Amino acid sequence: LENGVGRTPPMGWNSWNTFGCNINEALIHQVVDAMAGNGMRDAGYQYVVIDDCWFNPNRDANGNLQGDPNRFPSGMKALGDYIHSKGLKFGIYQGPLAKTCAQYFNSWPGSTGSLGHEAQDARQFAAWGVDYLKYDWCSPTGTIDDQVRTFAIMRDALAAAGRPILYSINSNSVHAKTGPQRNWGDVANIWRTTEDITNAWDTGQANGYPMGIQNIINVTVPLAGYAGPGHFNDPDMMEVGRGGMTDTEMRTHFAMWAMMASPLIAGNDVRSMDAATRTILLNQNLIAIDQDTAGQQATQVSFDGTRRVLAKRLSNGDVAVALFNQGSATTTISTTATAIGKSGSSFTLRDAWSNATSTTAGGISASVPGHGAVVYRVSGGSTSSPSPGGTVTVVSAAS
Ligand code: GLA
Repeated sequence: LENGVGRTPPMGWNSWNTFGCNINEALIHQVVDAMAGNGMRDAGYQYVVIDDCWFNPNRDANGNLQGDPNRFPSGMKALGDYIHSKGLKFGIYQGPLAKTCAQYFNSWPGSTGSLGHEAQDARQFAAWGVDYLKYDWCSPTGTIDDQVRTFAIMRDALAAAGRPILYSINSNSVHAKTGPQRNWGDVANIWRTTEDITNAWDTGQANGYPMGIQNIINVTVPLAGYAGPGHFNDPDMMEVGRGGMTDTEMRTHFAMWAMMASPLIAGNDVRSMDAATRTILLNQNLIAIDQDTAGQQATQVSFDGTRRVLAKRLSNGDVAVALFNQGSATTTISTTATAIGKSGSSFTLRDAWSNATSTTAGGISASVPGHGAVVYRVSGGSTSSPSPGGTVTVVSAAS
């Protein structure tokens, strides 16, 4: 979406994966303080996104949304002011239908969705200082055409509200667990590619609900053509640091999100990160690959069902390559400079985790543990220029 924001994938934190509906002002202040002090803000994590359940289940007498007075006694404007005062940005959650997901699926009280209130709600968000809207379709019914029309109404309402607001949408059940039914780049800055992520490498069920990390990667890799500056695939908030995976799997999760030019939205309790989690979330080499200004998502070079090679063209001519082992046993994975779009006689490989460099005349190879991913930044020689990311046709919200 050409609204001036989201030129690189958004980075930040979201309350849902760890806290669900158990959110309040004191907690969010603690999270904000932690992010400002633990290196996350300075590494680029800027959006603090308050997910479902922040609101009063009744609109006010004028139909305006209100924060829950018990959870957020100082109000949502004050919450945004606090977030901004620490150099961070304010994200909020809402639904385009009558109910949010917690209201629809979890019997949370009220019916305060934006249906019929889009312009009023967009103005309210702008007045509160909101910088990011997560807009979540919560009904098992509706067609893709209903969604295009409905999501475009809020896109246009945000544009009219006069504040740059990153627009994140979720088709939810309508994307049928196997990927979005269309390229949403004309409607939103980021769009979810799958059902909800869960804190596991593999749930043992392909394309079910919720989705393991490996399944989400399988669904999102083929969508590379949709991504570009201002419009990115969203494989969901991260489960790094939530205890459901080995260290190797967490590293692969983060590395693959970076290769896929995905939003890096932490979902862990950032007030109490262990050293392994911190090392992963603050890996500067991988953050630079994710945030590269060319905005390209890695494309698949090869995949034999176990060994997957992905390459991401970077703005300075370097290419990031991932050697990803989807099997459980250690194996050697190989590709070449030619296969990833490089030509020349000598290249430097920088390992994204160890930062060690080596040189090669063209072979790129590593022994990779089960569920592991080795990532190199390849420089030297020349590179065929990056293909432009996902051209999109702009739809109108007119019904
Ligand atoms: C849906 C979304 C989640 C979260 C919940 C909140 O399931 O996919 O990311 O926002 O709703 O109820």
